[in-house]
Amino acid sequence: MSSKTTSPRPICAVAEYLLFHYCLTEPLVPAGLSLAAALDFPVRCVTECVDVSLLPARARALDLGCAVGRASFELARRCTEVVGIDYSDRFIKVAEHLKTNGSFLFGCVEQGDLSQPCQAVVSAEIDRRRVTFEQGDALNLRPDLGRFDVVLMANLIDRLRDPHQCLKRLPALLNSGGQLIITSPYTWLEDYTPRPNWLGGFEQFGRRINTLDSLKDILAPNFQFAFCQDMPFLIREHARKFQLCIAEASIWLRK
Ligand SMILES: C[S@@+](CC[C@H](N)C(=O)[O-])C[C@H]1O[C@@H](n2cnc3c(N)ncnc32)[C@H](O)[C@@H]1O
Repeated sequence: MSSKTTSPRPICAVAEYLLFHYCLTEPLVPAGLSLAAALDFPVRCVTECVDVSLLPARARALDLGCAVGRASFELARRCTEVVGIDYSDRFIKVAEHLKTNGSFLFGCVEQGDLSQPCQAVVSAEIDRRRVTFEQGDALNLRPDLGRFDVVLMANLIDRLRDPHQCLKRLPALLNSGGQLIITSPYTWLEDYTPRPNWLGGFEQFGRRINTLDSLKDILAPNFQFAFCQDMPFLIREHARKFQLCIAEASIWLRK
C-alpha cells in the first residue's frame, strides 16, 4: 500500500481500517519498533531523559500527572525529594499505598468482568520516604510548591483543558539549570482539550502546526531546548487488547 495516495481525506475510522486491511509497512508499522522497546515507560522517562550529571546535591523533582507513581519512585533514586501530583484522587490513593507498603494488589481484566490477581511492587532499593504524593491540578498548582531541579510531565499536556496555562507556570517551578521533560503522543482530542487550546495537530493559514514547534515557541524565552526522542509505550486494556503509542520526549533546560 502506498502512503502517497491523494484520495479525499476519509473519516478516522475508515482510515484506520484502510491501514488495518491494506497496509503491511509504514505508516501502520513504525520502522524499527520492537515491543520490548515499549516496556517500562515511566522508568525510561527518568533513565533516558534525566541527566544525572546536571543534578545538584539534594535535588528536588516534581512529577506532574504522576498517576500511580512509578516515575516518582524512579526519580527518588536520583533526587532526595520528589513530589508527585495528580488530579485523580484514586491514582493518588494507590500511589500513597505503594509508598506506605511498597506493593499493591489489584485485579487486571482478562475479558468482560473477569480479572486475574496482579501485584505492583516498588523496588526495595528505592527510599520511598523521599517521595510524597498529593492530589492537585496542574492548571492551578498551590503557590508554595517551591522550585525543582527536575520537572517531569509525562503524557499530560494532551489531557489538559488548557496546556498553555500549565506551561506558563513552569519557569517559576524550575531552578536555573533545572531539567524539564515533556513527553506526549500528542493525541489532541476535544474531549480533553477544546480545539482552540490545542498546541498542534491542525492547519493555520495554510501551515501545518506541529506540537513540538509550538512548545519551542512557548518555552524559548525561559528554556533552552536540549534534545528530543521517541518514547514508545504499551498499555494493556485486557488480555487481548493493547495500545501501542509512541510519545515524543522533549528535554529542556531552564535558563
Ligand atoms: C495519560 S496519563 C499519564 C500518567 C503518567 N504520567 C504516565 O506517564 O503514565 C495522564 C495523567 O494526568 C492526570 N491529569 C489529567 N489532568 C490533570 C490535571 N489538570 N492536573 C494534574 N493531573 C492531571 C491524569 O489523572 C493522569 O494520571
